[in-house]
Amino acid sequence: MASLSVNHLLGIKNITRKDIDLIFETADYFKEVINRPIKKVPSLRDITIANVFFENSTRTRLSFELAEKRLSADVVNFSSSSSSVKKGETLLDTINNILAMKVDMIVMRHSSPGAPHFLSKHIKANIINAGDGTHEHPTQALLDTYSIREKYGTVEGKKVAIIGDIMHSRVAISNIYALKKLGAEVMVCGPNTLIPKFIGNLGVKVELDVKKALEWCEIANVLRIQLERQQIKYFPSLREYAIYYGINKALIDKLNKPITIMHPGPINRGVELNSDVADSDAAIILHQVENGVAIRMAVLYLLASEKTPLS
Ligand code: CP
Repeated sequence: MASLSVNHLLGIKNITRKDIDLIFETADYFKEVINRPIKKVPSLRDITIANVFFENSTRTRLSFELAEKRLSADVVNFSSSSSSVKKGETLLDTINNILAMKVDMIVMRHSSPGAPHFLSKHIKANIINAGDGTHEHPTQALLDTYSIREKYGTVEGKKVAIIGDIMHSRVAISNIYALKKLGAEVMVCGPNTLIPKFIGNLGVKVELDVKKALEWCEIANVLRIQLERQQIKYFPSLREYAIYYGINKALIDKLNKPITIMHPGPINRGVELNSDVADSDAAIILHQVENGVAIRMAVLYLLASEKTPLS
């Protein structure tokens, strides 16, 4: 049976095109499973997984938990806000204590970039990065590119604009790696202050004018302004951001061409995206969420159970 080239999913940067193709093929099977009346398979029956979240999450956390339960894994959930981290326990002590309870895999979200990479050097269990600070969010990029593949049949050659707060976005970085590995053309767009200087090194185009970005692309992946990560002001006000970079129906109608709108969530309605676009037929936002479960089932299955046949 084919297997991944890695023992952990820490980011998209360190996996191969072949890994992504294998994850997509496996997700195709699990997408069919989760649309059956009985959405469960016994594939990870003997595996225990801990979802360890040091940062808030709705989609990623629930999606991983559902994916694990649909694979019949045993699941425990850890939230730092109600844990002994508050009493000063270190990350490594926390994880080692969880693993001592015979946990096999760790799914972790942490505010520090590199936290899952650090863990991978100190523990034996498989680790899946569910978002590490401004660094990477690999399963989000996999579900995003999988959703493009589902809609267009391929990611190869597609023109994708990632629009918004690129500077603070782990989704942008992971998407750029995934899209480039799959052969897409990628543009980033946002105010100059929210475009990191290094971004050109990743082989993407940079555009400051959102109208030009929308004219260029077939798919726009719109990102949230991450005020919680901004220590200084990068633009005068959210109102001003919405005027210059907010995407609304009038802007989309002027394009006179089909376009697909994506968003990783949570949406700040009326800031980066208006409801008349977010809730329109052009948007595939809830398809992305649905695909997230199948993608996470595939990643968990491939990392945890190379020995167990699909059933
Ligand atoms: N897309 C995403 O990571 O959403 P959550 O923060 O709700 O998990």
